[in-house]
Amino acid sequence: YFLGIDVSTTGVKALLMDEQGQVVGTANTEQPLYTPYPLWSEQNPQDWWNGAVNSIRTVLSQSGVDGSQVLGVGLTGQMHGLTLLDEEGNVLRPAILWNDQRTAQQCDEIRARLGKSRLIQITGNDALTGFTAPKILWVREHEPEVYARVRHILLPKDYVRYRLTGEFAVDCADGAGTILFDLRQRTWSDEVLKAMDIPLEWLPKTYEGPEITGRITPEAAQATGLKQGTPVMAGGGDQAAQAVGVGAVQPGIVALTLGTSGVVFATTGEPFIEPEGRLHAFCHSVPGRWHLMGVMLSAAGSLRWYRDALAPGVSYDDLLAPAADVPMGSEGLLFLPYLTGERTPHPDPLARGAFVGLTVRHTRAHMTRAVLEGVAFGLRDGFELMKSAGLTHIEQVRVSGGGARSPLWRQILADVFDAELVTVNTTEGAAYGAALLAGVGAGIWKTVDEACSAAIRITGSTAPRPEGVSFYQKAYQGYRQLYPALRDLSH
Ligand code: XUL
Repeated sequence: YFLGIDVSTTGVKALLMDEQGQVVGTANTEQPLYTPYPLWSEQNPQDWWNGAVNSIRTVLSQSGVDGSQVLGVGLTGQMHGLTLLDEEGNVLRPAILWNDQRTAQQCDEIRARLGKSRLIQITGNDALTGFTAPKILWVREHEPEVYARVRHILLPKDYVRYRLTGEFAVDCADGAGTILFDLRQRTWSDEVLKAMDIPLEWLPKTYEGPEITGRITPEAAQATGLKQGTPVMAGGGDQAAQAVGVGAVQPGIVALTLGTSGVVFATTGEPFIEPEGRLHAFCHSVPGRWHLMGVMLSAAGSLRWYRDALAPGVSYDDLLAPAADVPMGSEGLLFLPYLTGERTPHPDPLARGAFVGLTVRHTRAHMTRAVLEGVAFGLRDGFELMKSAGLTHIEQVRVSGGGARSPLWRQILADVFDAELVTVNTTEGAAYGAALLAGVGAGIWKTVDEACSAAIRITGSTAPRPEGVSFYQKAYQGYRQLYPALRDLSH
């Protein structure tokens, strides 16, 4: 068996997979998120560890599997979060998460220190509030007494790795999301670290996704029920591991994830960079591959907000069914999905959502359909940026996440993207990808490609309809005018 552990924002999930790639069991332990001030988003690293211990114990006992039968552990989790430890490995302050927006000023400082174009050239990315580096600068400026004691910088899942193995390690995908990485070299950039005055010794050792980073310590064995000495593989940041989990590992395959956030993720055989840094360019969890990614902050999250605000208690099926009878374009109603600010294509924490074009003719069904269409248009923005960055070879789009369960939403997306959308048999996302990476590290499969072709099958396909493609092509042009027209109202 292999274990995939996903340290996500909502909870820590443990997934147990057998050597054929079948899911044997999963367990999840939720943890709180703290927002003590506007724009802040923090978690307690100790909660991640407690959650990991609880989920590992639960999944083993529920599946009737003994810890000694687990041959490897793969880690994945929320990216970009800053975890600071002192000399003894004690946590110095709550972790500052990927969705924390306090660091706009530090992003400007990073651009000023290195020059925006040099920063993008080396790291593949612009300084965005979500990324790790500006959070380090924020602590240095605002909490100098904490900063003075820092000896180790870790990402969220790598804190759990430290508790499991005693090692300080990170995979290349998550490493790249710190923007302290040399994207091409797949390790820390001396030039960037010097410019930001951050010591290299504070950063963990870097590994490729399937590599072994350490082994379960006696203390961790006691806590979790795993066997002492079990290897723990690098794994990957959640987006790269999610892509492995749906088999989006070859150039030309795009993974579209409709979770709370919406992600358009394209695997590339070499580093592709969007010259303005409007897409994220990170390493893949597959050795020698990279990816380009657009992140929309409220995708299925928009639908959840809409349901909770306007149709509380209504099931998604009941909410969505009438929207299928509304004509394409929702009779002129447009929805802008920037309910929690936006990252791609407008890196703007103050961007806001809107319904535009309401008339007395519009019913709840129109509004529902407009939400699905608005999210699809927002995701297409990311897709368009990929094409303009030179990524023209797109063979297939693999769709996953809670939102992908709706056939109506899948059809709208196929039409808006003008691409065939396929679904796959695996639905456990990043934790599943992390377990596959552990299987590769343990030698069950020779490569990540081999693991994915052994375990992942296409189960369904939605083709674009010509009338939908031409209709949405025009409607998309209208959608694109909304943000520039409304921007000043929220600034
Ligand atoms: C990726 C990103 C999110 C987090 C949270 O850039 O910020 O996907 O990893 O899951």
